Amino acid sequence: MNKKLFVFIAVLCFLEVVLSNPPPLCPPCTYSATGDSSSSPCTNCPSGLCTKDAATVGQDPSVCTIKPCPKGKYSSSGFDYSQFGLFCNNCPPGTTTASSQTSGNSPQVCNVTLKACAKGSYSASGYDTDGSGAGCTACTAGTSTPNIQTTGTDQSVCTLTLKACPKGNYSSSGFDTDGSGSGAGCTPCTAGTSTPNTQTKGIDQSVCTLKACAKGNYSASGFDNDGSGTGCTGCTAGTSTPNTQTIGVDQSICTVTLKTCPAGSYSVSSFDTDGNGSGCNKCAVNTYSAQGATSCTSCTNNRTSPAGSTAVTACVCPQGTSGPTDGVSSCSTTSSGSINTLFISLFFILMCLF
Ligand SMILES: *[C@@H]1O[C@H](CO)[C@@H](O)[C@H](O)[C@H]1NC(C)=O
Ligand SMILES: *[C@@H]1O[C@H](CO)[C@@H](O)[C@H](O)[C@H]1NC(C)=O
Ligand SMILES: *[C@@H]1O[C@H](CO)[C@@H](O)[C@H](O)[C@H]1NC(C)=O
Ligand SMILES: *[C@@H]1O[C@H](CO)[C@@H](O)[C@H](O)[C@H]1NC(C)=O
Ligand SMILES: *[C@@H]1O[C@H](CO)[C@@H](O)[C@H](O)[C@H]1NC(C)=O
Repeated sequence: MNKKLFVFIAVLCFLEVVLSNPPPLCPPCTYSATGDSSSSPCTNCPSGLCTKDAATVGQDPSVCTIKPCPKGKYSSSGFDYSQFGLFCNNCPPGTTTASSQTSGNSPQVCNVTLKACAKGSYSASGYDTDGSGAGCTACTAGTSTPNIQTTGTDQSVCTLTLKACPKGNYSSSGFDTDGSGSGAGCTPCTAGTSTPNTQTKGIDQSVCTLKACAKGNYSASGFDNDGSGTGCTGCTAGTSTPNTQTIGVDQSICTVTLKTCPAGSYSVSSFDTDGNGSGCNKCAVNTYSAQGATSCTSCTNNRTSPAGSTAVTACVCPQGTSGPTDGVSSCSTTSSGSINTLFISLFFILMCLF
């Protein structure tokens, strides 16, 4: 009697213990045949997948139906199904999450600030996808979006038709940025240089390969063909252009009449460079020239002349010597000559005395 009661109490106690300490339920993202670890340990879902809830009953990973929230969305669990039955929330425009599977209950987890897509590019959100420009699609060459932060999924949002940068200007695309034709966004070549064509692509002045024709030369563009001086035509001797970079097709543009360099000076062309006398170089000391010289002539026989001498007769015998005034004959040592004369005279005087 007492024995039966004892067994009954013992069974109750056993059930009590078993019922108050049930085997642990499988946590979310794991599963087992019983939903707990009584028969076998809980199995992890494949990486990146999750179960809909805790205590998931299943034989294989097909019960792992829940995917993580993608970058740019978040939920309390980080997956697209949370314990509150909510799906992933979108980050506010212009922000994103640092990675997929971001868990959180407020947009504060969207802690990456995106950049608006630049003018000339677009994206579904109008923003890039990582804050460093990725994810914006560029418009095809020669077209652009009217504004930054353009929302779109194809080139139809590139409604702006751009104009080629004019000759003498360049840009990274070869086009202006606003289609106005004023060259907005095109960088001008520095003065005296130009590009061979319109629509020149470049990021620095190295694409400005043409050089202005020198004064006294002209071309249809005012520039040479290739930076080596070819393509400029020289004015005929004695004429010049008023400026460098002269645009012209024939000699009628050579409106400046040059002067021959005056005696005592020279130039490579024998003319001045401006019709006013500049560009002629004074002859150096011990040289001379007549009018219209391309170089100065040196004095001979050690004769010397001052700078700017205009004739050979300016070449005189050096100090201590003498010679004809023709400017060319050799000179003789006058001082030692007179000393000799003195000695010879003395010799004859002494001869007379004895
Ligand atoms: C942004 O949030 C993530 C978690 O969502 C965190 O790991 C990261 O450190 C945060 N970054 C900054 C700059 O706060
Ligand atoms: C660049 O383009 C502008 C606008 O057409 C033009 O005025 C300018 O001369 C160009 N620059 C050069 C160096 O040619
Ligand atoms: C200018 O013309 C002269 C004469 O033809 C030529 O010798 C010179 O090389 C030309 N210079 C340039 C920069 O074109
Ligand atoms: C020549 O000199 C005159 C007067 O000094 C000046 O007006 C003119 O511009 C000069 N011409 C050149 C080509 O330099
Ligand atoms: C020029 O002077 C040098 C040194 O004074 C002398 O040796 C030489 O003979 C001179 N030449 C003539 C042509 O007088």
